[in-house]
Amino acid sequence: MTQNVWLITGAGRGMGLDIAKAVLAAGQKVVATGRNPEQAAKALGKSEDLLVVALDVTKPDAARAAVTAAVDRFGRVDVLVNNAASFYAGYFEELTPEQIERQLAVSLVGPMNVTRAVLPVMRKQRSGHIISISSSAGLAAGFDFVSAYAASKFGLEGWMESLHAEVSPFGIHTTVVNPGFFRTELLTEQSTNYAAPSIKDYDERRTQQLAFWKSQNGKQTGDPAKLARALITIAGQVPPPRRFIAGSDAIVTAEAKIAELQQQINSNRELSSSLAHEK
Ligand SMILES: NC(=O)c1ccc[n+]([C@@H]2O[C@H](COP(=O)([O-])OP(=O)(O)OC[C@H]3O[C@@H](n4cnc5c(N)ncnc54)[C@H](OP(=O)(O)O)[C@@H]3O)[C@@H](O)[C@H]2O)c1
Repeated sequence: MTQNVWLITGAGRGMGLDIAKAVLAAGQKVVATGRNPEQAAKALGKSEDLLVVALDVTKPDAARAAVTAAVDRFGRVDVLVNNAASFYAGYFEELTPEQIERQLAVSLVGPMNVTRAVLPVMRKQRSGHIISISSSAGLAAGFDFVSAYAASKFGLEGWMESLHAEVSPFGIHTTVVNPGFFRTELLTEQSTNYAAPSIKDYDERRTQQLAFWKSQNGKQTGDPAKLARALITIAGQVPPPRRFIAGSDAIVTAEAKIAELQQQINSNRELSSSLAHEK
């Protein structure tokens, strides 16, 4: 297998750490980035194939510096994994404008910052692969408490789909990954920020939602180490898929979304088709 160079965001813990470990175990090279590089360095140990770099994805300068460090050390970047994200959970009306901005800054604009820094390198190489970790909630989000997170992930997907058209002529591939529930640190207090209760109308449902989300921590069915190995498999496919649905629960969500869209088309097909100018 070719020794690709992978740049991974949020590689200090959670899924990002599993991806970094799997790529190293597969004999490929890793630029492991994170807000706390010591954490990644400690978790991954020392290797000729590993470079650990500080990167808060909300900082464009830091993204440029991380890519420069990657190229200085390994000469190229073959695969970028936009993995880092956070979760601002709560009813839209109870989330503050600052929380919404923070959600979008980390999980939507963050991947854009890092991709903007990587693209000149990939264009020069005339090759590369950008993998962005979305969510089931980036495909279908018809349930409470995830409006901010879903907005960031739907945004990520729209941006990635159009980016594909823009950069594929340069030999650059893109993949959106839709994981279902995976047992990482996403639902811990370190990663999930809950909206402060402020509207009585939501009291009852909020109590149920909080109990649900907190009870899921540590019980998610997906194994992030298996997902990490699956990403190496799809990165080796020629061409890599533009979308990868990760987990049986995510397949159920995706199929329900297809059925819902089809039903929405069918229910108003005649009206929808009657909107052209007469001549
Ligand atoms: N786990 C799931 O069930 C699930 C489901 C669907 C999608 N996903 C997606 O999978 C990806 C990985 O999440 P996870 O489950 O591994 O969550 P996690 O365990 O909470 O890890 C999140 C990672 O993102 C990093 N991060 C947060 N803000 C950052 C910033 N501003 N700059 C750089 N890094 C930052 C964290 O680093 P720090 O240590 O610095 O905070 C951490 O390494 C995310 O995109 C998430 O939305 C997860």
